[in-house]
Amino acid sequence: MHGVSQPKVLISRERIASRIAEMGSQITTDFSGEAVLFVGVLKGAAIFLSDLARQVHLDASFDFIGVSSYGNRPSPSQELKGGWDSTGEVRLTKDVDQSMRDRNVILVEDILDTGLTMTYLKKLFLGHQPRSLKIATLLDKPSRRKQNIQADYVGFAIPDEFVVGYGLDYAERYRNLPDVCVLPRE
Ligand code: IMP
Repeated sequence: MHGVSQPKVLISRERIASRIAEMGSQITTDFSGEAVLFVGVLKGAAIFLSDLARQVHLDASFDFIGVSSYGNRPSPSQELKGGWDSTGEVRLTKDVDQSMRDRNVILVEDILDTGLTMTYLKKLFLGHQPRSLKIATLLDKPSRRKQNIQADYVGFAIPDEFVVGYGLDYAERYRNLPDVCVLPRE
C-alpha cells in the first residue's frame, strides 16, 4: 500500500478506553465543583477529546484550535524514517472561538513529540489569562523532546516510533483506526 506496510497495533482500543477513564476521573477530581474548557488541537486530538470529555463529570465546554508548522517540516516519508526536524516555527491556522480569560483551560493534544507545538500554544494561551492551564496528551514521546515541556495528564509514554490511528495520521490517512498503531519503517 503506497510502499507502507500494514499498521501494527501498539495500544489497543481497550487499553485506550481504560486509561482515558482514569484520566477523566483524575480531571474530575482535580477540578471538583468547577467548570472546564477543553481546547483540542486539530485534527489529531478530535477523537481523544471526545472520548476524554465524556469521562469528565463536570460542567464542560469544547473549543478547537488549528496549527501548522513552517519550515522544514518533513514530507511524510521523512517522518516515517524518523529523520526529520521542525524549525520550531508554529503558525496558527484556526483560533479559538471562546474567551479563555479566567477559565480552567485544558489543552488537549494527540501526541507530545518535540514539544515545539505545545510550547508555542502554552505561551499563546497564557497570554489570554486563563484561571488555570493544564495540558492533556494521549501519547508522549519523551525521547524526542527539544523543549522542556511536560503534560499534566499523559495517557501513554511511547518509544520513538511513528504512530497512527485514534486521530493520528500519516499523510491524512489512518486517523479512523480504533487502535494506536505503528507504521513499520521501510
Ligand atoms: P511536536 O511539536 O513535535 O511536539 O509535534 C506534535 C505534532 O506532531 C502532533 O500533534 C502530531 O500532529 C505530529 N506527530 C508527532 N509524532 C507523530 C506520530 O508519531 N504520528 C503522527 N503524528 C505525529
